[in-house]
Order: sequence, then structure tokens, then C-alpha cells
Amino acid sequence: MLRLLALAALMLIGIAPLFAQTQSARSAADLMDAVMWNREPIGGPFALIDHNGKPRTNEDFRGKIMLIYFGFTYCPDVCPTDLQNIGLALDELGEAAGKIQPLFITLDPARDTPEHLKDYVPMFHPRLIGLTGDAAAIHSAAAAYRAYYAQVPLKGDDYTVDHSSFIYLVGADGKYLGFFPPGTPPDRLTEALRRYVAP
Ligand code: NI
Repeated sequence: MLRLLALAALMLIGIAPLFAQTQSARSAADLMDAVMWNREPIGGPFALIDHNGKPRTNEDFRGKIMLIYFGFTYCPDVCPTDLQNIGLALDELGEAAGKIQPLFITLDPARDTPEHLKDYVPMFHPRLIGLTGDAAAIHSAAAAYRAYYAQVPLKGDDYTVDHSSFIYLVGADGKYLGFFPPGTPPDRLTEALRRYVAP
């Protein structure tokens, strides 16, 4: 009996994380609360693959201000709008934008392969880097930033991804600075970012 219980426990430990990895372990409200009221440290290490197939970690971007957005390329509305706003704000900043590295981390790694990201990210800004990885790596990156995501089934085998859409700002030293809410217009992004890139 004990042996059976131990086996059952092992199976649970082995299987549960696999299920959890396709979506946040915590609720959308819980994670929103953590970000919006700064209740928990936000950010942390990540190890992903960029849209050229090259392994990338957070350490690669030390010395740059990171502007991080989590989303997915099949997002019909919110992601393209926010990514476009980020691109326009960086254009508006001109040369100073060189101090900023915009990153798009997919929450749908099954569909957003490096090849697919390569077709998508340049539409928004030539320096935008798309990042993907296996489900566990994406889960870990999203958890570090308290980004919520969950697959929502559509008709047939299709699905969409419900997700939070904060635009995270991380200093050149790797320390989290804060976030912009979803839908922040480009001129506001530009003005707010200007103080971080001032010489
Ligand atoms: Ni989206």
C-alpha cells in the first residue's frame, strides 16, 4: 500500500508540472495584484531562443534597458497594438532608443517557433527581438514577471491565449523599474522612456 502511494505521489509530481506549464500556475487576478501593487519582486533570469534560433538569456541584455512584452503572434488585437506602440515610441526616441532593447516573449511556444517569430517581429520594429523556448522555459519566464497566460479552446483544435499585457521596464543593471499598462499610447511611452535614456 505504501509503495502504491509512493508511486502515485511520484506520478503526480512528474505529471502535474507538465500540465501546469501550458499556463500560469496562479490566477489572473492574483498575478495582476502582484504586478499592479508591486507586492512581489518582479523579473528574474530567463533562458530562451531568439527569432534567429540563437540561445539568449537575460544576461545578454545587461547594459541595455529592457522593454519586455509577453504575448503571442496569433493575438488578434491587443498584442499587435501594444507592439506597434512600442515600435512607434522607439522611432520617436530616435538615437536614444539604442539604449533600449525591446523584447517580445511568446506565451504560445507551440505555434510561435523562431521561424514564425522571424516573420512577425520585424513588422513592429527592426530591433524587436522575439523570444521563444520550450513550455517549461516560457512558463518560468512568465512566472518571474508575474505574467498571466492560459490557453482557451476555440472551435476544433484551435485555441487562443488569454494573457496579461503589461509592458515591463527593466534597468540596464537588470533591476525591475516598473510597468506600462496595456494600451499605453506611443507618445506617452516616448515621454516616459525619455527620462531613462537621457544622457
Ligand atoms: Ni495578446
